[in-house]
Formats: sequence, C-alpha cells, structure tokens
Amino acid sequence: MDIPAEIKKFYVTTPIYYVNDVPHIGHAYTTVAADCVARYRRLKGCEVLFLTGTDEHGQKVEKAASNAGVGPLQFADRVVVRFQELWEALNISNDDFIRTTEKRHRRAATRLWETVVEKGDIYLGEYEDWYCTPCESFLTETQLKDGKCPDCGRAVDKLREPSYFFRLSRYAAPLLEQISANPDFIRPESRKNEIVNFIKEGLRDLSVSRTTFSWGIPVPDGPGHVMYVWFDALTNYLTATGYPDSSGDGFWPADLHLIGKDILRFHAVYWPAFLMSGGLPLPRSVFAHGWWTVDGNKMSKSKGNVVDPVEVIGRFGADQFRYFLLREVPFGLDGDFSLQALKGRVNSDLANDLGNLLSRSVTMIEKYRGGVVPRPSPSENPESIVSLIRDFNNLPEEFDGLMDSLRFSDALLVPWRFISALNGYIESSAPWKMAKDGADAPLSNVLYNLAEGLRIIALYIYPFMPGSAEKIWEQLGMGRKIEGIDNLDVEINWDGSGDKVAGNTVKKGPVLFPRIAD
Ligand code: MSP
Repeated sequence: MDIPAEIKKFYVTTPIYYVNDVPHIGHAYTTVAADCVARYRRLKGCEVLFLTGTDEHGQKVEKAASNAGVGPLQFADRVVVRFQELWEALNISNDDFIRTTEKRHRRAATRLWETVVEKGDIYLGEYEDWYCTPCESFLTETQLKDGKCPDCGRAVDKLREPSYFFRLSRYAAPLLEQISANPDFIRPESRKNEIVNFIKEGLRDLSVSRTTFSWGIPVPDGPGHVMYVWFDALTNYLTATGYPDSSGDGFWPADLHLIGKDILRFHAVYWPAFLMSGGLPLPRSVFAHGWWTVDGNKMSKSKGNVVDPVEVIGRFGADQFRYFLLREVPFGLDGDFSLQALKGRVNSDLANDLGNLLSRSVTMIEKYRGGVVPRPSPSENPESIVSLIRDFNNLPEEFDGLMDSLRFSDALLVPWRFISALNGYIESSAPWKMAKDGADAPLSNVLYNLAEGLRIIALYIYPFMPGSAEKIWEQLGMGRKIEGIDNLDVEINWDGSGDKVAGNTVKKGPVLFPRIAD
C-alpha cells in the first residue's frame, strides 16, 4: 500500500485531560479512538507520534487540590497515575505522555507566548465579564443561558481583573479562509458549520491571562499574571514535537487532533489563531466526536452514574470495551452506554461470530490435519469459495477508505462481513462430511482458506482489539507478532503461495471472548 510521502509521518493527539478528576468513559473514548488510528497508521508503514497527557494547571485543578488539602502539583502527581494506569489497562500505545507541569512544556508555552507578543497580538487590558471554571472558558452576558454556562449548565463567576488579551478579532477572515480551503480541517461537516457560524458572528479579542490565582505558567514580563489555561494547554501539541528547539523531527503540523465536541471551539478557533500568530503551520485536521450518555441519561457525579472504565475492563475485558466504544456509535455522533448493550455486542459479535469461527477452525485443523495448516490445491476449491473470493476483492480498499475518514464503526463491518462469510462457508462446505467421505483435497482447501481468512481478519481487527488480534495470530502459529508489521498486506492468499499460513502449526488457546452471563 503506497502512502504519499507527506503522510509517512503521522502525528495524532488526544486532548490532555484535566487532573481535577479521575478518568471516565469520555476520556477512554478519545484515547481508544486515537490508539486505533495510531496502530492502523503504523501497520500502514507510517512513523507515528501518538500523544496523550494531562492538563494540570488552572483554577479548576487548583480548587480541586485545595479541597483535597494538598498542593496542586502533589494533587496532579496523584491523579496522573490513574490516567497512566488506565491507558496501560486499555493497551494504549501512546509514544509520549505529556504533563503541562513539565519543564519542556513551560518552555514551549513561554516561547509561543513571546512569539505572539513579537507579532503584536497581545496587549494589556482589563477583563470584566463572566467565567465558567468547570469549562475554563470566558463568556459574555449574552452567551449565558438562564445565567448559567451555555456549555455545561453550571454556575459562572463574575470576573474583574487586569488581563492580557490576544487579538483574536484579527483572525476571523484568515480562519474562514483556512476552513473553506481545507475541507478536512474541521470534521465532521455538521461541526464545521457550527464553527463557521461562530466565527461569522464576530470574534472578540480573547483574555489570555489571569491574576487572581497563581497555578499556571507565568506570563513572560507580566508579573502577577499566569497564562490562561487553554493557551498553556493547547501548546502541549507543539511541546511534544520538540518546539521550540527543533521543527519537531517533521511531526509538526499534527495530522489529527481528536477531541470531544465540547472543546471544538478551543481547537478550531483559538488554537489555529495562536498558531497563525506564531507563524506556525496549522494542524491538518480536527475531528470532534460526540458524547456518551449512560442508560439514556447525561453522565454526572451528582447522578452517580459515571462509568468507571477500570470497572468495565475488569468485568468485560479491555478489547471488549474498546470494540464496543468504536463499534456501537458512528464516530462523530452521540451515543448511549449501557451494560446491556455492551453485553449484547460481546455475546453476539465477539463470542458467537468471531470467537466461534476461530475455535471451530483451529479445532478442525487439529482434528483433521494434526494441527498443521494444509497447503491448498486451488483447482480443488469447492464452488462456495468462488463467491467468498468475489466478496472479498474490494474489502481492502473499502476498509482503508473508511479508516481514512474515521468511520470506525463502518470499518469494523468490513472484517465482520468476512467473518460471517467464513462462518457460512463452514456450514456450506461441511468439512466434517468431506472428512467422512475421504474428500482429502477439498478438505485441505477449506481448512487452509479458514486459516488464511482468520489471518486477514486478525490484521483488520488489530487496531481495534490489539490483544485479541495477537492471540488469533498466536493460535494460527504465525510466529512473529502483528505489532511491528509496517506493510499491511491484506491481499488474501487463496492459492497458498507465499507461505503465509500454510505449514503453520496451530495452537488452540483459551476461549477468546467468553460469553457474559446475565
Ligand atoms: N483539559 C481539557 C482539554 C485540553 S486539550 C488541549 C479538557 N479536559 S477534560 O478532562 O475535561 O476532558 C477531555 C475530553 O473528555 C473532552 O474531549 C470531552 O469531550 C471528553 N468527554 C467528557 N465527557 C464526555 C462524555 N460523556 N462522552 C464523551 N466524551 C466526553 O477538556
């Protein structure tokens, strides 16, 4: 598969998560999606930089720390571990983990600030308006909804303090131009329109410093001011590429910022404006996904319905959770989480369809061929394989197209169509009858085709369920691991040439996806 030279390097990011609270399903969602993209790109031969991390400054974190009776850094040190442990449990393959309290980040944010000052885009004034601390966002009177934050619905504070301002108003026209010239800059389309309307309503200069608390990066030559937490946080994406020391080994600009819909304005308006001001290239794409509700309700601490990913993984398994998140809801739309729905997916898609295919195939290879995948003789292929081959011909192209547009749920349907075709193939070719009738060559062909089909399926599902994909490979006796492949080749090898799976000794393992009982 040829990848254009300019995307041989692929840089994907998640938001950096606030450490005021422990991780929940929303955090897991973006990170799993980013991991899926990163693993897919690596298979495609890209050199990938996959970044995640934590957003540790700001009033909200400072407040949470003081409620806990510890200093903010000590508090962050404590919570950051919860995120890191979760990423490990979810088999997340991030290449870097950034904390905004790190020195490298303070340097980067300071340098970006100075560059923006040199451009003449920062001036001192006074901010007098509303502030939503949970969202860390500045709001005008007219933006409020019933006196509350229009985004999160919580109470807002009236601020009046000296502040540095960023000349955001200068960037309305260049931003609109950027958006219209780059169709993929903001995805999905519906979200793009939201941002275009927001910009067209007029951009006010943005307050970018605070003076009433001190937990942040000091403003250069601005005694008493700390940087607005979003200026600080957004810069993390540059920090990880080595900014300001190098041009980032070719990783900047980012190929993909994955975020939730609630923080799109920060990523699609403020961030590109800061970058334009700093004379830096803009990210290629920002994709905003939807939000999860739980059993039809908004997730909230007060309702006590916050989904703890660690609990879900313990009960259902990491891959099962990953699969559910990416399969259940088209990426970009809102979705609903329920244990019932998760259980349904595990039992039907994973245990019945995929798990059974694997265990039946491996069992038959052991039973009829002493565990060695036979070499096929294509001239002896039963009629049923002809339609299977026809069905499969377009799959690689279709899969790539869907992965490029981040349609994870539809992309998963591709291997699943193949899984059900193979299950149907077992039924229609009835290998047990072939064995009884002594139809040796056709039986070898069926067994080979099943093993080869499973090999391909493992490659397809690897970005989504890396642990299970590796287990399938192990059971197929593939030797080396999928991780490390950098030339994804999903051409199926119907004639057994190339020795991909023929001759392997299969090894039955424990049930891949145990059924979940009531
Ligand atoms: N610190 C900022 C991001 C800075 S990026 C430069 C932040 N952090 S956060 O911890 O509050 O949340 C981050 C992500 O979690 C957001 O992308 C948000 O959309 C996502 N989610 C929070 N609740 C969610 C759901 N219920 N469902 C899906 N995603 C949700 O914002």
